[in-house]
Order: sequence, then structure tokens, then C-alpha cells
Amino acid sequence: MKVHNAFFRLVSCAIRFLDCAHLAHRPGRMYRETHALNRLVRVIRHLSLPAALAFASALLLAPLFAAEPAKAVMERDFTQTVKPFIDQYCASCHSGKTPAAQLDLKAYTTLASVVDDFGHWNLLLERMERQEMPPKPIPQPPAERRQKVIEWVKAVRAHELRKNVGDPGPVLAHRLSNSEYNYTIRDLTGADIRPTREFPVDPANQAGFDNTGETLGMSPALFNKYLAAARDVADHLALTPDGFIFAPGPVLSGPDRDQFAIKRISPVKFPVERE
Ligand code: HEC
Repeated sequence: MKVHNAFFRLVSCAIRFLDCAHLAHRPGRMYRETHALNRLVRVIRHLSLPAALAFASALLLAPLFAAEPAKAVMERDFTQTVKPFIDQYCASCHSGKTPAAQLDLKAYTTLASVVDDFGHWNLLLERMERQEMPPKPIPQPPAERRQKVIEWVKAVRAHELRKNVGDPGPVLAHRLSNSEYNYTIRDLTGADIRPTREFPVDPANQAGFDNTGETLGMSPALFNKYLAAARDVADHLALTPDGFIFAPGPVLSGPDRDQFAIKRISPVKFPVERE
């Protein structure tokens, strides 16, 4: 009996502790929830020890297993429904040494292997929904079986989306893209110098974007180009009586500077009719 009571104390303390920790931010709900919890603890008190143990472990372990049934069902459906379907209707072309479209559908042996390479399964979904695979004139599989596979792929996709919701993935530090760098220099100097003229074109990632951390890396060769670009920008610097400004072109030689000064005095380059 002593053990029994000590156990209840422990459980109720644990629940209270967890609850206080999470209610600390929401005092408005504190009263109502604390009452509900007290009732719960009273219910536990009236259970036998084994029942209480089972109840408590269910309570504590539930969050760990909540996501598992969905996964287990998907895993089971993969072996029982999807794999036999693929083996029967697709593997004749999509397996072996030279699989059609270099897509070996027999290589997927588990749910995890599908998730890892889901890009291909998106294609598979599209082609099957459009009834393009297996290709004509090969007869289509029974609609019902095809539909089951389609639903399965969609369920896996939904599950993965839910799992990763709000997670943008790793955020990589990266240099500015060429355009970003050009605009930054323009904003800083007031002159449209475009220092990245000599830079290689920014590579695009798989999705076609050229401004992501995946591709905007820095190499020793590019670093040298950055140094040269900085010198190029500095070559545009022209001194004025009260500081400096940046000219639209390089102003290193005497004639360059003269021309720049004259242009600043008379910005109008061609005759304008006056009234
Ligand atoms: C008779 C041979 C044959 C069968 C059977 C067949 N395919 Fe294909 N599949 C091809 C060929 C050839 C291509 C490449 C040409 C094309 O994209 O239409 C292809 C392309 C694909 C692609 C596009 C791959 C990519 O990278 O663009 C997918 C997805 C696909 N098949 C899925 C399936 C599925 C799923 C099945 C079974 C339901 C299946 N195929 C059955 C011959 C076959």
C-alpha cells in the first residue's frame, strides 16, 4: 500500500510539474486546467497498482507512439499493395541492368527508400494519374489497384509534409548573388558600376533558383575576382572639395578626371530648345 501511494504521489507530482511548466505562460487557463488535473489524479488514486502503472505509462508514452500507427500502416501497405503492383505492372521495364528512363522501381524496398527519393515518386504519381504508365499499347492495370497505389503515394506525401511543416531545412550562410552585389554597390556608391561584370554566372540549384545558399559558394578564383572588383570600384572614386563621390566610369587618369568634372558642371549633353 505504501508503494502504491508513493507511486501516486510521484505521478501526480510529475503531472503537476509538467503542467505548471507549460501553464506558466498562460495563466488564464491555469484554473480550469488545474481542476481537470486534480480530478485526473483522484481517478488514478482509485485504480489498482497495475492499472495505475499501465495508465501512467500510456499517458507518458502516448506522444511517442501517436505518429507510429500511420507509419506502420504505410509500411504494411507498401509491402502488401504497392510493391506487388510495381513488380507486376512496372518492373518488366523499370528494373534490371538498363531500366526504362533509368528508373529502377525494384530498387525501392522500404518506405524509407521511397521517402528518400520522393522526387521520382512524384513523377510516378503524375504518370499514373494520367494513365500514361504502363505506356500504350500495354493494357492498364485494374483501376482499383492503380487507385490504391495513387492513394498510398499521396498519403506518404501528406505524412512527410505534416512531419516537416514549418521547417525550412538548414539555412546556409552564403555570399550575395551577382545581382545582389551589383545593386548593393550601386546603393552604397550612387554609381551603377556593376562590379560583377567579370564574374562567372551564378549557378542555379535543382529548382532553378540562383540565389540560394546551396549554390552561392566562394572559391579561391572567385575571391580573387572579388578583390579585383573592389579595386575596380575604388577606381571610380573622385575627390571633391568636401569629401569624395563615385564617378560612373573609372577616374584614374588626368583626362578622365577632367571629363568627369566637366560633365558635373554641365550635365546637359545636347542642346535643348528653350522657350
Ligand atoms: C513497356 C515498358 C514500361 C512499363 C511496363 C512501364 N514503363 Fe514507365 N517508362 C517506360 C519508358 C520507355 C519511359 C521513358 C519514356 C517516357 O517518359 O514516357 C518510362 C518513364 C516512366 C516514368 C518517368 C521517369 C522520369 O524520370 O521521367 C515514370 C515515373 C514511370 N515510367 C513509371 C512507371 C510505372 C509506375 C509503371 C507501372 C505502373 C511503369 N512506368 C511501367 C516504359 C515502361
